[in-house]
Amino acid sequence: MVSGHVFIGTSLDGFIARPDGDIAWLDTHAGTNEDHGYAAVMALVDGLIMGRATYEKVLTFGDWPYTKPVIVMSTSLSEAALPHDLVGKVRLSAESPKALMDRLAQEGWRHAYVDGGKLIQSFLRADLIDDMIITRLPVLLGTGIPLFGPLEKDIPLRHVETTAFASGLVQSKYAIARRP
Ligand SMILES: NC(=O)c1ccc[n+]([C@@H]2O[C@H](COP(=O)([O-])OP(=O)(O)OC[C@H]3O[C@@H](n4cnc5c(N)ncnc54)[C@H](OP(=O)(O)O)[C@@H]3O)[C@@H](O)[C@H]2O)c1
Repeated sequence: MVSGHVFIGTSLDGFIARPDGDIAWLDTHAGTNEDHGYAAVMALVDGLIMGRATYEKVLTFGDWPYTKPVIVMSTSLSEAALPHDLVGKVRLSAESPKALMDRLAQEGWRHAYVDGGKLIQSFLRADLIDDMIITRLPVLLGTGIPLFGPLEKDIPLRHVETTAFASGLVQSKYAIARRP
């Protein structure tokens, strides 16, 4: 089994990006250059699974920021569209989240970082997320791309811890509360 982990920043009103995908506000309101636990999550995981929209945003950064393998879930991208320098670093998947996680387990993965709003939502619906570290930034955006969305049934959570940083960021960790 591969456990799914979320580590993401949101506005206080629950958005992960502006409607056009802009995330510059994250830097504006992040306060310090503090790591906020990102390095520990990256050290834990065997790789990242991200939605196509998040991948396309990361491409605009210029330098590829990940040292671990990245799987981009997309039904529209083809391998031929991958930049040459990302061959061997990025793989595409058009599988279902469950089929992908089963295949990664066979490859030896144990922990995956799941990134992107729509992707996180579909992994939550498929019961493939184990815990979420959500860092709320002190800003209201009013509109944007939401972290969460419709569910067929409630997902009970267990609050693990909350840390308030001097910068104004408030980070909460939740585990998915599964029945024994
Ligand atoms: N605040 C933060 O910390 C943070 C973190 C991550 C991302 N972001 C921002 O969030 C925005 C992207 O989030 P998003 O919610 O729009 O998109 P996303 O989850 O990154 O990507 C969604 C796309 O992934 C593909 N996909 C393939 N299988 C899927 C599945 N099972 N479930 C859902 N999607 C699947 C689809 O593209 P195809 O049409 O190709 O199939 C879908 O349109 C970007 O602006 C990014 O910068 C912010």
